Amino acid sequence: AATSIKQLLAGSIATGNTVRVQGWVRSRRDSKGGFSFMAIHDGSSFDAIQAVIPAELDNYQDEILQAGAGCSVKITGELVASQGKGQAFEIQAQSVDVVGWVDDPESYPIAKKRHSFEYLRTVAHLRPRTNTFGAITRVRTVLANAIHNYFFEREFQWINTPLITASDCEGAGELFRVSTLDLTHLPRTENDAIDFAQDFFGEESFLTVSGQLNVESYCMALSKVYTFGPTFRAENSNTSRHLAEFWMVEPEIAFADLNDDADLAEDFLSYLFNTVLEKCEDDLAFFNQFVDKTCLERLQTVADKNFVRMDYTEAVSILEKTKKTFEYPVKWGIDLQSEHERFLCEEHVGAPVVVMNYPKDIKAFYMRMNDDEKTVAAMDVLAPGIGEIIGGSQREERLDILNARMAEQGIGDELWWYKDLRRYGTVPHAGFGLGFERLISYVTGMENIRDVIPFPRTPGNAPF
Ligand code: 4AD
Ligand code: MG
Repeated sequence: AATSIKQLLAGSIATGNTVRVQGWVRSRRDSKGGFSFMAIHDGSSFDAIQAVIPAELDNYQDEILQAGAGCSVKITGELVASQGKGQAFEIQAQSVDVVGWVDDPESYPIAKKRHSFEYLRTVAHLRPRTNTFGAITRVRTVLANAIHNYFFEREFQWINTPLITASDCEGAGELFRVSTLDLTHLPRTENDAIDFAQDFFGEESFLTVSGQLNVESYCMALSKVYTFGPTFRAENSNTSRHLAEFWMVEPEIAFADLNDDADLAEDFLSYLFNTVLEKCEDDLAFFNQFVDKTCLERLQTVADKNFVRMDYTEAVSILEKTKKTFEYPVKWGIDLQSEHERFLCEEHVGAPVVVMNYPKDIKAFYMRMNDDEKTVAAMDVLAPGIGEIIGGSQREERLDILNARMAEQGIGDELWWYKDLRRYGTVPHAGFGLGFERLISYVTGMENIRDVIPFPRTPGNAPF
């Protein structure tokens, strides 16, 4: 069987052994001395492994000398200590099979060494072959596993909340509607398609914007729970931080208040950043060198739990006092805009900021009313370079106050089951949502959220 290049480069196999690798050619270089060097990658590691190919091989003239970047190959040979700089091991090839050729190397869409991220979005099916997207993919995988491990180690249950739902958890009206097509009346024209589209089994239903309401019901029985899955928002914003389809992690804890929630958020982020620092050394070194020079420093700040907490009211007074002028004027009661969030964490503090206790009128119905009756127990974690990365709150566990809040926001009886949770054994509880792609942008320094998810869904994106 083939060995992964990561294993070979890590020294898991002793030199002198015969090994086989399979992967894609990153580059080929021919020496006058009668051999060629091929760099092979298979996705397991940032670095490629070098194969030294002697001209004596049968297919050297006809195949090896034609095989360039992008071709797939299987190579068998002896693992030896590398004479060259940069890597400890290389393969002295005994056979090289070209498995798949590149049709026309001249027109191979990612033939050139460097491409802009904008261009790579137009070839989203090929961009995983680049260094950057390989690195993002590995970081994404390490983070996804770290998320599950963090919760598993702490006795949280993973709840698979539904993607099709009747409720608008955030009340922001950014829902995608789900309908069924009556296939017995196959549409003949585009207009017909609209006529035959029906609500899902006669009820209005949507793609979920958040698993929170459902996960709360499991929290009221299993104490510590979380969701981790896709969520959908019909965002009309074409920004570098919004996707129409993104992944969200939503823990929910019982017998907990807003401070417990903030503690959990900080501890969770610190764990994730420590894990990625430990497991993605080579990939992070690449991001730190080519994407964002402050990458490693930023990761360490979060790993070391350097967060600053402040109330919304304090944040507003900081924003009012600064000499900096904002596009969107600041006064108590506004929803903080991205420019305000970034000023707070980037210029004022220089570390992530947890803003707490927002005005009730700009927040969702489920957030717990504070004693001042003007603010709710909400929190956002703001990250330098990104802005909001986490949104969370303590939930309103008192039925009478919840009823009043829902009535105020025009929410009717459809959430009867959510109210039941306050009727039978209610307890103070809290939770938050971490946008998985915002997390990856934050970790890697990648500026556009479209570049940290394999196939971004945004208005007008390429149809992959
Ligand atoms: O602040 P949000 O809307 O909070 C909720 O959905 C709560 N129900 C979470 C909870 O308390 N369980 O969204 C949470 C996070 C944001 O902080 C952001 O990181 C991310 O989800 N997010 C998006 N990420 C990418 N594209 C979008 N359009 C996003 N909208 C929110
Ligand atoms: Mg939010």
